[in-house]
Amino acid sequence: MKILAIESSCDETACAVVEDGRKIISSVVATQIDEHKLYGGVVPEIASRRHCENIVGVCDEALKQAEMRLDDCDGVAVTYAPGLIGALLVGVNFAKGIAMAMKKPLIPVHHIKGHIAANYIAHSELEPPYICLVASGGHSHIIKVNDYTRFETIGRTLDDAAGEAFDKAARSMGFPYPGGIHVDKAAKLGDCKRYKLPVPKTENPYDFSFSGLKTAVINLVHNAEQKGETINTNDLAASFQHTVCDILTSKFIKAASDNGYKTVALAGGVAANSGLREMLEQRTSEHGMKLYVPPVSLCGDNAAMIGSQGYYEFLAGNAAGSELNAVASLRL
Ligand code: KG4
Ligand code: ZN
Repeated sequence: MKILAIESSCDETACAVVEDGRKIISSVVATQIDEHKLYGGVVPEIASRRHCENIVGVCDEALKQAEMRLDDCDGVAVTYAPGLIGALLVGVNFAKGIAMAMKKPLIPVHHIKGHIAANYIAHSELEPPYICLVASGGHSHIIKVNDYTRFETIGRTLDDAAGEAFDKAARSMGFPYPGGIHVDKAAKLGDCKRYKLPVPKTENPYDFSFSGLKTAVINLVHNAEQKGETINTNDLAASFQHTVCDILTSKFIKAASDNGYKTVALAGGVAANSGLREMLEQRTSEHGMKLYVPPVSLCGDNAAMIGSQGYYEFLAGNAAGSELNAVASLRL
């Protein structure tokens, strides 16, 4: 089954063709980062407008690369939640139009489920059940993947998501948006023990809280500026990254051990972080766990992951009609 997949939940307009949930036939991503960079973050209204302008060309390109016509697709999968409402609506309405005109099934996909499914494309042997750590710009979740379409969230962030904390801490260090990748690069050159940063406590051991840590970095930079002291940015990046990765890894390993999982996975934009990948690799192997991580190219927002999850949603009978609407925030 070949699914045409569409993703427009934030600042990437993406379209892909995916076969049987596991094989990418084509995948095109048009990013708007350069424009949002000017404002230090995503401007929702600009994002919606750019999606409108880009979506037809991105879809045409994905079909061209797949050497297919619209009619060759067996279904249309689309991210309908969660995300920026105006941005989501562009993809949802575009997908609805194609599905109705071509008389193909319309398959709604939850963005976070898509991030998790990126692992199915990269690892043909991976099957539920397993436990997944999802760390992205908007979410930090520990999720039991009971089946391809049955999920249970046992830990979540109480305030900022990990990616959001990366981006805001990065901004105070002088890096452009999105700062996660810049912190990652700087951290490679720094000493992670140089700056002592707070590790927040949460009532539920699987929950996260990153806002205090983010604020500590911002305050450290401001205080130094006021006193005319210099901060070693590489050391601060390394200290911050190490603290975030340690929190994510420790809580995730505890959740996996407590719940008896030996198969574990990582997903989301922050899964591209080299420090997190390394730390998780080491600690999961110490615990005798098998870790699945998507390639960096599938960690950030893309439509291939939506096509993968869309396949399993279709098999589970989760198709929608023309009443499908976008939803800004929706739990799994
Ligand atoms: O999943 P994603 O592409 O979008 C959302 O669904 O939110 O995640 C984007 C987030 C941004 O906060 C970005 O800074 C972060 O992922 N990110 C990274 C790295 N690459 C992307 N964070 C840390 N290290 C990286 N290498
Ligand atoms: Zn995402």
